[in-house]
Amino acid sequence: MSELMSGWKRTCYCAEPSEKDVGSKLVLMGWVQSWRNLGALIFIGLRDRTGIMQLVFDQSKMPPEDFVRAAGVRSEYVLAVKGTLTNRKPDMVNRSMKTGAYEVLVEEFKVLSKSETPPIYIEDDLHVNELVRLKYRYLDLRRPVMQRILIIRHKIAQCTRDFFARNGFLEIETPMLTKSTPEGARDYLVPSRVHPGKFYALPQSPQLFKQLLMLSGFDRYMQIARCFRDEDLRADRQPDFTQIDLEMSFVDEEDVMGINEEFLRYLFKEILGVEVKLPLRRIEYKEAMERYGSDKPDTRFGMELADISDLVADCGFNVFAQAVRAGGSVRCICVQGGAEKFTRREIDALSDFVKTYGAKGLAWLNAKPEGNQSSFAKFISEELTAAIMERAGAVKGDSIFIVADSSDDVVFASLGALRLMLAEKLDLLDSSRYELLWVTHFPLFEWSAEDQRFVAKHHPFTSPRDEDLPLLETDPGKVRAKAYDIVLNGNEIGGGSIRIHSQELQERMFKALGFTREAAWNRFGFLLEAFKYGTPPHGGLAYGLDRLVMLLCGTDNIRDVIAFPKVQNASCPLTNAPSPVDEKQLRELHLMHEEK
Ligand code: AMO
Ligand code: AMP
Repeated sequence: MSELMSGWKRTCYCAEPSEKDVGSKLVLMGWVQSWRNLGALIFIGLRDRTGIMQLVFDQSKMPPEDFVRAAGVRSEYVLAVKGTLTNRKPDMVNRSMKTGAYEVLVEEFKVLSKSETPPIYIEDDLHVNELVRLKYRYLDLRRPVMQRILIIRHKIAQCTRDFFARNGFLEIETPMLTKSTPEGARDYLVPSRVHPGKFYALPQSPQLFKQLLMLSGFDRYMQIARCFRDEDLRADRQPDFTQIDLEMSFVDEEDVMGINEEFLRYLFKEILGVEVKLPLRRIEYKEAMERYGSDKPDTRFGMELADISDLVADCGFNVFAQAVRAGGSVRCICVQGGAEKFTRREIDALSDFVKTYGAKGLAWLNAKPEGNQSSFAKFISEELTAAIMERAGAVKGDSIFIVADSSDDVVFASLGALRLMLAEKLDLLDSSRYELLWVTHFPLFEWSAEDQRFVAKHHPFTSPRDEDLPLLETDPGKVRAKAYDIVLNGNEIGGGSIRIHSQELQERMFKALGFTREAAWNRFGFLLEAFKYGTPPHGGLAYGLDRLVMLLCGTDNIRDVIAFPKVQNASCPLTNAPSPVDEKQLRELHLMHEEK
């Protein structure tokens, strides 16, 4: 132990003492949150990760030089104090503080470290630019809100390990320096020094290794795993994030979903004290899209989509009829009581909003008491309007918003987003409710317009549904997968699948994805080879831990739940990563040629 600390041993955290400790001697360590000098008395709020304790320095009860030292203490100085816990006078009790009934009468103290005036205030209600907070992240993390979040994050990780260990899962680490495993994002590459021109990839997930662990007989695996994806950042994405990753052998979809429901029930109880009712609701992908315009529906409110294609297929409004004729659809949402809520200008803004999702326009109807107003009144008869209203579930006083497009995807994306945007605007999102549900029966593939081929919707190791197997070569777009996502209040918190476990089917899958046999073996030969030697049927799932923490902490910013996150352009304001490196390093890595 260093000299500075010798003889000083903390007896408890600042906010731990309670009634039973009154009269006892305490040793506390912490940072100066606040100080007030009243002449003969100095009050200091001492803060640590548990909270704040008020310290009292009484001139009449300490050597004069100590009192002078105390008067020199400033914000964020680090102190060690010895003193006696006492009750505050009744009129000095602060009920908004956990320790508001007590104070410590200081007998002896040490300044362990001084501080300059910090560039940000250490308080919850902080209004500074996030970039500044992230540059001084170590100060930002002193704020109680941030400490609370990281403590909850720790508890979630702890509960996760407890639960899965209790259920026979083994925690096994998989490599960080590895080969590219496609999850659909770009890889972060690490150049090899000893193999000129060759690269490791940082894992996008432990997918292939956890499957190999099933082959090895580990049967139930879990890992809190770091993953790396070079993709466009959003409010719920980081390039460097964490998964709760798991895999099980000898299971079907029900088994994987079943144990995860138990896990979620346990987690919600432990972390939030919330009872989750099992079994969780399940909805097939197709139904989720048709009712909510989303494969991660927020089911805390209604405003479901209605299909009016059949009603308007032959109507006089060409925008509608044309969309149906072109193989698309016309769908709408109904906003209860909306007729008096939206001005024309606001409706124009909604129309601009859906255009960002590819819609070409937004038709609308306000069922005002004095009569309907709509953007299509001149093209559509009153009878047809009444039929549309009935289909949409609209009555007098409501509004309807309609999107027509030759592509269902555009209709779903724009109405799905409009539904969410309106719910937020109309304050329909109850933050005290937790709606968990499974989305199942995902399509195995999606068409990539960019690559002009089918790509895996989940990943290429996901098993097709048995009944759809014959379509794998003939009509890949129709094949559904044994895949499931777990959704919480409209956020995808996790996803997984039953895997392909035969070499033959895996090869058919690669072929459907446009790989030649040679290319497939080049890239995934180690997996195809492994499948030859006795592969148990297996499946699993991974949660985005950061997203889960975010939702359980009630924040909508993923950076708030990561100690040292990256910003929008994937850089770190604290360390300035990524940054240039020495030429010597570049040469060693064969990324720069020796100068002649
Ligand atoms: P998937 O790609 O769906 O599946 O990822 C699983 C979960 O990880 C979270 N997630 C992210 N969180 C933060 N930032 C990101 N950039 C990011 N990307 C994904 C999401 C997502 O649901 N190997 C498969 C799982 C499996 O099949 O078992 C996989 O990685 O919450
Ligand atoms: P227009 O005939 O272009 O004046 O359009 C009449 C109404 O139909 C306007 O309210 C447009 O916003 C709306 N509209 C145009 N295209 C679409 C579309 N693809 N889906 C729904 N409404 C549309």
